[in-house]
Amino acid sequence: SASYDHILAEKRMPETSAKGGGVGLITLHRPKALNALCDALFEDLIHAVNAFEEDEDVGCVVITGSPKAFAAGADISEMSTQEFANVYKKNMFTQWADITKASKPIIAAVNGFALGGGCELAMMCDIILAGSNAQFGQPEINLGVIPGAGGTQRLIRAVGKSKAMEMVLTGNRINAEEAFAAGLVAKVIDSDHLVEEAIKMGFTIAEKSGMAVRMAKEAVNVAEETSLAEGLRFERRMFHALFATKDQKEGMSAFLEKRKPEFTNE
Ligand code: CAA
Repeated sequence: SASYDHILAEKRMPETSAKGGGVGLITLHRPKALNALCDALFEDLIHAVNAFEEDEDVGCVVITGSPKAFAAGADISEMSTQEFANVYKKNMFTQWADITKASKPIIAAVNGFALGGGCELAMMCDIILAGSNAQFGQPEINLGVIPGAGGTQRLIRAVGKSKAMEMVLTGNRINAEEAFAAGLVAKVIDSDHLVEEAIKMGFTIAEKSGMAVRMAKEAVNVAEETSLAEGLRFERRMFHALFATKDQKEGMSAFLEKRKPEFTNE
């Protein structure tokens, strides 16, 4: 795979390698700054996500950091002297959302600090798995600013208004168990086994029909952006569309014939 300055990107294949059954593992790697998300790191990250999006061996992506930090936020040293005209004209952080354009699912495996932009990056992913030592927070208020990469919008959808307000207004962090109780993360996993478990979940997803997986992700994401009636209509149309795939025929025949389906992602 390609080599990057601030991340590691590698492909993991399951033992019984079905087509598209692999997981693309991206490890944020800027240890001296607790993976602070400088521009160059985010460019690497977007490049790697896009490369896995194109890679037919890969059915799911995992993004992780180090045992100490998923990411401690946007890079404060890059931001500290910026002026309004500049950040406005370059529309700072708008390009981060490219991550959300991927059609393949992305799992965030969070150990340690996920703060500010780090928490926002995790929330741009489709599933967050927390290591038992994870800490989530939006501490921007302590720097005299507010979250700028989705923290005020995605957090409230995940944890509700009161908890989101508490986190955004006080800057206080929540731990893995609190994040689980609040609905921010899908699971809490022993930190030492987090990445391994995230890859396993990635394999589980990657062995399904890539068509169904993509449409499921798209439909769930529509729910955050539209009314219930429109969302239900969208879901039904996606459901109908899947009857045009070979994988639907294979999946249902395999069930009736009591065998394991062999999906081809078509
Ligand atoms: N940007 C730049 N550098 C950072 C950083 C960041 N967000 N977070 C940590 N670092 C650097 C530190 O400056 C330090 O560098 P030096 O060794 O060169 O001094 C190194 O990483 C290690 O950090 P600490 O010594 O502070 O480590 P610690 O264990 O004592 O504390 C911490 C850890 C609580 C996470 C602390 O580093 C911290 O509070 N970081 C900043 C968190 C933050 O405010 N994030 C929000 C950024 S703004 C944002 O993200 C905007 C947005 O919405 C996108």
